[in-house]
Amino acid sequence: MFVPLERLINLNEGYRRTFQVDGRSLLLLVVDNQPLLLVDSCPHKGAPLNTATLAGNVLRCQRHGIEFQLPDGLPLQASCPGLSMLKVAYEGDRIGIDV
Ligand code: FES
Repeated sequence: MFVPLERLINLNEGYRRTFQVDGRSLLLLVVDNQPLLLVDSCPHKGAPLNTATLAGNVLRCQRHGIEFQLPDGLPLQASCPGLSMLKVAYEGDRIGIDV
């Protein structure tokens, strides 16, 4: 089932918004003009990533400073798992997720 999240026309560079889908908090952001969807929870200790800082394509969690490269979500510090990246889906003029 397709769950729409945002209208495509709103996906500008720097876009960032969280959504609740099936009890999970998801983060949709646009980096390098590419929409990326991930679980809004740092794989280190679970801090929300909606306040993470973004420098180029590196997302830095505010809580302990672990950094992740986008779009693959791999950690720059090997001791931490990567981000949970999710596949986006499209329907009509919306971006969303298939659940
Ligand atoms: S919770 Fe994100 S770096 Fe620790």
